[in-house]
Amino acid sequence: MGMKERIAEIQELLVTELNQVDGMQALDALRVKIVGKKGELTALLRGMGQLSPEERPAAGQLINEAREKFTAMLDEKLAAIKARDRELALQKETIDVTQPAPQPQMGCEHPLTLALNEVVDCFTGMGFEVVEGPEVELDHFNFELLNIPKNHPARDAQDTFYIDDNIVLRTHTSPMQARTMLSRKPPIRIICPGRVYRADEVDATHSPVFHQLEGLVIDEDVTMADLRGTLNAFAERLYGKGITTRFRPSFFPFTEPSAEVDLTCVSCKGKGCRICKGTGWIEVLGCGMVNPKVLEMCGIDSKKYSGFAFGIGLERIAMQRYSIPDMRLLYEGDMRFLGQFR
Ligand code: DAH
Repeated sequence: MGMKERIAEIQELLVTELNQVDGMQALDALRVKIVGKKGELTALLRGMGQLSPEERPAAGQLINEAREKFTAMLDEKLAAIKARDRELALQKETIDVTQPAPQPQMGCEHPLTLALNEVVDCFTGMGFEVVEGPEVELDHFNFELLNIPKNHPARDAQDTFYIDDNIVLRTHTSPMQARTMLSRKPPIRIICPGRVYRADEVDATHSPVFHQLEGLVIDEDVTMADLRGTLNAFAERLYGKGITTRFRPSFFPFTEPSAEVDLTCVSCKGKGCRICKGTGWIEVLGCGMVNPKVLEMCGIDSKKYSGFAFGIGLERIAMQRYSIPDMRLLYEGDMRFLGQFR
C-alpha cells in the first residue's frame, strides 16, 4: 500500500473516531493513538527505512503535512469540547442575582436581661457589688436564718419545690443576705440577682420560675432614710426625673419595720391610668430594716450595726419598662416577640 493511501486510511480512522469522542480524556487518547510516539503516524515514519533514498524526502513531507493536518483537526475538536464544557458549566452554575440573599439571624438580648442590666447599672453606680448564690438552697438559709422557722405562716406564701426536707429550690434571693453576712464583715453593700422558684400556677402575672434582685446594706448608723434615699435614686435613674417611691407598711419576718414600695406609674406619671389601675403607683419591691434577730443569727453585732434590705421583682420591672402585658411572653421563646428587642 502506498504512503498516500495509508495516510488517507489513518485520516479516515481519525475522522470516524473524532465523531465519537465526547470529552477531554477520549480526545487525549485519540491524540496519542494517531500522532503520539507510538501512534499510527509515527509508525509510518519508522517504516520509511524500507523506502529507497529517493522516495524518502517526498514521503517524509507527506507524513509531516499529515501530522500538521491531524494535529489541527484534534485541536479544533479540543476547542469545541472546551467551549461545550464551559457552556454546560455556565448553565449549571447560573446565579440568580435578583434572588434576595438569606438574612443572617442576628441575636439580641432577652428583655429580662436588658432590664436586669439596667437595674444592676443603677446600683453598681451607687457602689453596690454584684454577688450570686445557689439556686438549690438549704432550708437553713432560705428560711431559718431569715427568721422564718418551720410552721411559720410566711412559708405558705412561698411554697416551693423540695429536694428533701432540708434542701429547696430557693423561693427568693434573700438567703444571700444570710450567706453574705456570714461570710463578710461590714460595711456590706451588695446586690444579688437571680432565678427563684415557687410552686405557683402559670398565669399572666405568675410563673413557677421567676427572677429577683436582692439588695443588702450593713454598716454603722444605717437608717430608713438611707433606704428611702437609695430607692428614690434607683427609681429616678431607671425611669427618669419625677419618678419617686411610696412606702406602704408591710410585714416580712427578716425586716423590721418592713414596707412594700410602689414607684410612680411611668405610663401616666402618677395621674392614674389603665396600667396602674387608676392609682398612679406600681408595686415593685419589698424592703425594710434588717431585723436585729437576723443580724445576730448571722453573726453581726446588732448594737453596733444596722442595715436595710430590699427585693425587687425583675419581671415586674421588665414588663413595665417594655409594656409587656403577659408574663408568659418572657418564657415562651417566641422569636416574633423576642425579636422586637433589637
Ligand atoms: N424576699 C421577699 C419575697 O420574695 C422580698 C423581700 C422583702 C426582700 C423585703 C427583702 C426585703 O430583702 O427586705 O417576697
